[in-house]
Amino acid sequence: MQTQSPISAATARAPMPDSHATAIHELPPLPYEFTALAPIISEATVRVHYLKHNKGYVDELNRLIANSEFVGMSLEQILLATAKQPEHEKIYNNAAQAWNHSFYWRSLKPHGGGDAPRALQPLIAAGYGDTDVLKRELATAATTLFGSGWAWLALDGEKLKIVKTGNADNVLTQGLKPLLVIDVWEHAYYLDFQNRRADHIAGVLDKLINWEFAADNLKR
Ligand SMILES: [Fe+2]
Repeated sequence: MQTQSPISAATARAPMPDSHATAIHELPPLPYEFTALAPIISEATVRVHYLKHNKGYVDELNRLIANSEFVGMSLEQILLATAKQPEHEKIYNNAAQAWNHSFYWRSLKPHGGGDAPRALQPLIAAGYGDTDVLKRELATAATTLFGSGWAWLALDGEKLKIVKTGNADNVLTQGLKPLLVIDVWEHAYYLDFQNRRADHIAGVLDKLINWEFAADNLKR
């Protein structure tokens, strides 16, 4: 198994996945240790998810776009340029999955959960009443998504919106600003929870969700 360590990035904030365009897309550093999300997400799950699935999307994207018009574009530019274009479906899927995973790792943190920060409270109050209701609705979206995909908290104009997307789909293609995302592909939880996706989601929302990341994204 590859032994790339996330330690060098443990105290550094990873850049936004679309912050700059490079010829070769790289796997962004994991923003914490492989063990940091246990026991909700085990070290084994983080390792295979990050080093195999996440890395696989980045590597496949680089292979697919070599010598193409997409060289030099950011992940966000590629996914927006290829969305809903059947001839570019593979490139879209891998660019979106690379973007989504980078965003996902930063949507979680050790000792996360709890109440949302002050910056989010007016939006939560206007849309959902309180954080518990928002968490319940996010959990419902994540647990009821059929098959593989993502559950997002996004900004739609001036309002919060919970959106579920299938497979690689990303809310950027819907004109929304993503604030948080939960990966509900089975590879995100199956080693730890088998078919009990709802239990995994409950643990993520209670112990790992990174509300500060969502608040930071409001300003971007
Ligand atoms: Fe994933």
